[in-house]
Amino acid sequence: MNVIIVRDYDELSKKAAQIVANEIKKKPNLVLGLATGSTPLGMYRELVKLYKKGEVDFSQVITFNLDEYVGLSPSDKNSYHYYMYENFFKHINIPQQNIHIPDGAAENIEEECRRYDEKIMKHQRIDMQVLGIGTNGHIGFNEPGDELITTTHVTKLAEETRKANARFFESLDKVPQYAITMGLGTIMKAKKILLLASGKSKAKIISELLGDESVSTKVPASFLLIHPDVTCIFDEEAASLIKGRGE
Ligand code: GLP
Repeated sequence: MNVIIVRDYDELSKKAAQIVANEIKKKPNLVLGLATGSTPLGMYRELVKLYKKGEVDFSQVITFNLDEYVGLSPSDKNSYHYYMYENFFKHINIPQQNIHIPDGAAENIEEECRRYDEKIMKHQRIDMQVLGIGTNGHIGFNEPGDELITTTHVTKLAEETRKANARFFESLDKVPQYAITMGLGTIMKAKKILLLASGKSKAKIISELLGDESVSTKVPASFLLIHPDVTCIFDEEAASLIKGRGE
């Protein structure tokens, strides 16, 4: 893992946007895997700025989002569809047909998962996958458990995840119980991975991740230790408990 530690969230966002923009310059039809949550918001804001300055062109980029809540329609303000359009897609020149997000309101959810994998497989693999990390080590919505599923699937959200995400909803009971998520296999097949973590709440999981050389389904992000091309960008707060730092 290539670990880059930056001062704060602003620097993290700029650095992440620069890395993504460079990949698009190298390969204009980049297959780009995208994440939601608070962490990548600044990266999207910076990418929009780069686009407005004419420094990056999304006209051929193809995107696949990691996940979506089951039961929320694309127009629901808490859906990841809504998040992605509000924070990113409606501000750039990506063609509508190049955008892929699982449909959490699909009538047949199992079929939707299969269809999503087929679409990814048409491109063989994702070129660059952007990831955040849950406080419990989840990536996408691949939650800790006895096993991890390789393909796109429906997952029951951990209570820790529902509580962490309740800040976006009116109340905890409004947070969906289930989500569709890209599986660990699809994530691990990405050529490059960009893992972002910011703030004190991520310090514990980041120190566990970097302090342990084993992989475990109990910490889904630990599988990134065996991926050949992962770049991590952490801000000082997220990196503050990494062993050997500041001693
Ligand atoms: C969310 C998303 C993940 C995200 C993670 C961290 O629930 N499903 O894709 O990376 O949890 O979120 P945040 O960046 O808000 O801390």
